[in-house]
Amino acid sequence: MGFNLGILISGRGSNMLNIVNASQSGIINSKVKIVISNKINSQGIKKAKKKNIKTKIINQSLYKTKTNFEKVLNNSLIDENVNFICLAGFMSILSPYFLNLWSNKIINIHPSLLPDFKGKNAVKQALEKKVKTAGCTVHFVDEGVDTGKIIDQEKVTISNNDDEEMLAKKILKKEHVLYIKVLKELERKLL
Ligand code: GAR
Repeated sequence: MGFNLGILISGRGSNMLNIVNASQSGIINSKVKIVISNKINSQGIKKAKKKNIKTKIINQSLYKTKTNFEKVLNNSLIDENVNFICLAGFMSILSPYFLNLWSNKIINIHPSLLPDFKGKNAVKQALEKKVKTAGCTVHFVDEGVDTGKIIDQEKVTISNNDDEEMLAKKILKKEHVLYIKVLKELERKLL
């Protein structure tokens, strides 16, 4: 069994592309029904289009309230029969209104070993704290910032010479593996 996925992005879209590739090559059973960006110049949208995935840009900055934006977002997902949402570099906090509509049906990937280093610049925060191990987490999305129930994590060892860019790159590689692993686990639970 698989999900009808909606993937929400804001930028580069490498996690999104990785999920699309896994779906199109049959590594996961889920189908990506639509990729939506809340930013107009998201690179990820071009990448999804190249893969023949339906895309939509909903320019969040044009909406007076978050709820107005989220109503359009919700309708766009419903129109494509989406039943599960993956956040992949989606840099907007979803409101309780939207989360209630999609209770336990939204997951996110974050570049830290949560509950450590929530929010923005997670990789930088880890380097500043001089921790030895970094990583990434996939978690259910709740009303807090990166506070929802943790599903799974991958660790990354920090080397002495790692700068933010190098570490972020190492973590991203693990993110791609982790996101697919989690989707497979969740698909199995659907059975
Ligand atoms: C990823 O590293 C993801 O974990 C992070 O943004 C990047 C998006 O990259 N997300 C967050 O920091 C969320 N708090 P991508 O657009 O190439 O997938």
